[in-house]
Amino acid sequence: MDTFAAIEGRRAVKLYDPNHKLTAEEEQKLFSLATLAPTAFNIQNWRFVILRNPELRQKVREVAWGQAQVTDASLLIVMCADLKAWEKDPARYWRNAPPEVQAFMVPAIGQYYRGRDQVARDEAMRSCGIAAQTIMLAAKAMGYESCPHGRLRL
Ligand SMILES: Cc1cc2nc3c(=O)[nH]c(=O)nc-3n(C[C@H](O)[C@H](O)[C@H](O)COP(=O)(O)O)c2cc1C
Repeated sequence: MDTFAAIEGRRAVKLYDPNHKLTAEEEQKLFSLATLAPTAFNIQNWRFVILRNPELRQKVREVAWGQAQVTDASLLIVMCADLKAWEKDPARYWRNAPPEVQAFMVPAIGQYYRGRDQVARDEAMRSCGIAAQTIMLAAKAMGYESCPHGRLRL
């Protein structure tokens, strides 16, 4: 499937086969594509949490207006972020770049984030939004449907 077809074909689908399971290879493919999503300064601050426990998913469904896709979709991915990713050995995010690029980018990360919690939160929201769309389009191209959800009251 080409990109245009994935964008045009993706819809927020509500009904899923609760017995279907992705193979390990499919999950691996989906998340390897997800981690190609861009992040500011390449800090890769998204964290993807897959809720597999049926009882936990049922509890989440209850605070998500009882929506069936929360328990029935083959994957329930909670988009999380590490707000401190910027200060955790930031040189690793640029280790494959030329030395002069590393010398510029690595200190710039700290200058951008240090003492600016709102910036860290804003960047987390951006990163997660872009990654979520990447996941949904990748899923579509793999033959799967998806449904985004907003913040749940947990
Ligand atoms: C942040 C966000 C939260 C959403 N929450 C829900 C939701 O709780 N349940 C649902 O069925 N769809 C939800 N949607 C999907 C939208 O309703 C849907 O994307 C929109 O109506 C457009 O339809 P389409 O995605 O099929 O084109 C959400 C979408 C976004 C971006």
